Amino acid sequence: MAKPRVFLSRAWPAKVEARMAEVFDLTPNKSDRPLTPAEFREAFASFDAVLPTVTDKLTESAFDLAKPRTRILANYGVGYSHINTAEAARHKIVVTNTPDVLSDCTADLAMTLLLMVARRAGEGERELREGRWTGWRPTHMIGTKVSGATLGIVGFGRIGQAMAQRAHFGFGMKILVQNRSAVPAEVLARYNAVQVANLDDLLPQCDFVSLHCPGGAANRHLINSRRLDLMKRDAFLINTARGEVVDEHALAQALWFNTIGGAGLDVFEREPQISAELMGADNLVMLPHLGSATAATREAMGFRVFENLVDFFEGRSPRDQVA
Ligand code: DGY
Repeated sequence: MAKPRVFLSRAWPAKVEARMAEVFDLTPNKSDRPLTPAEFREAFASFDAVLPTVTDKLTESAFDLAKPRTRILANYGVGYSHINTAEAARHKIVVTNTPDVLSDCTADLAMTLLLMVARRAGEGERELREGRWTGWRPTHMIGTKVSGATLGIVGFGRIGQAMAQRAHFGFGMKILVQNRSAVPAEVLARYNAVQVANLDDLLPQCDFVSLHCPGGAANRHLINSRRLDLMKRDAFLINTARGEVVDEHALAQALWFNTIGGAGLDVFEREPQISAELMGADNLVMLPHLGSATAATREAMGFRVFENLVDFFEGRSPRDQVA
C-alpha cells in the first residue's frame, strides 16, 4: 500500500523528520517560512496529512477549496487557536495537538519571566552590557521579592498546574486559581491553592498573575484596560499563553503610567512584530515565543505528532484529537 503523503509546514527536529520519513511519504517545507492561505489550499489538495504549527494562520480562506485530499491536520504545538476548526470540521478533517510534553518547559519559562521582571534581570543586563554600571550600592536596582508572594494562575490545566508546582514548592508562593470549571479539591490541595470565583476577584489579590488559558476568540483581550486597573500597582503580569489574550495597547499604557509593576511576555498579538510602545517599556521583559524551545521538548512534540498520525492512518482515534 502507498505510504500516506505528509506535508510539514516548517523545519522540525532532524530526528523526528528522519523517523517520519521512514513511515510516511514526507515533504517538508524547505523554505521554513510561514505559508500563505493559497499555499495551504495547494497542500490540502495534494497531501493526506498536513502538519501545521502556531505560525500558520489557517483561517477560512485556507479551507476555501472544494475537495481536499487532507484528512488530518496534526498540529505541532498544544495551542491551536490559529486553526479554524469549524472549517476543518466542514471538510471532515480531524485536528490533533501535542499536550503534556511541553508543560514543564513552558512553566519553566513562565517562571523565568516572573523572576526576570521581579528582579529586574533584563534591565540589569542592559545596564551592564552598555557599560552604565557604576558598582554595588544599597539602593541600586531594587526589585520585588518573589518568595512567599501571591501568584494568581489564570487557567489551571496542565501548564497552569506545572506553574503552581514550581511556585508553591520552589518559592513558597501562595497560589490563587481562576479556571472555567471547578478544579477538583485534591488537585488544589496538592499546591495548597484556592480557586476564586472569577478573574475580577483574582486580580486585586495577586502580586503576580500568570496566564495559562487557551487563546482564540473566546479569550481575546481577556486582560484589557479595566482588568489591568484591577491589579495592584506593584503587581506583575506574565503571559506565556497566547498574544491575543492581552490587549497590548492597554498593557503598554499600564506599563508606561506605572499602574502595574511590570510584565513578562513570551507571546504577542502580532508575532513576530513588536509595537514600539512595548519596545520602549523598561519594566517589561520580552522573549521570542520560547516556551517549548528545548531540544527534549521540541523532539517530544514531534514524536507526539508522529504517534497521532500512526494511530490515524492505522484506523485508531488519535489520542490528542481536539476537533
Ligand atoms: C504551543 O505549543 O502552543 C506553543 O506555543 C508553541 O507552539
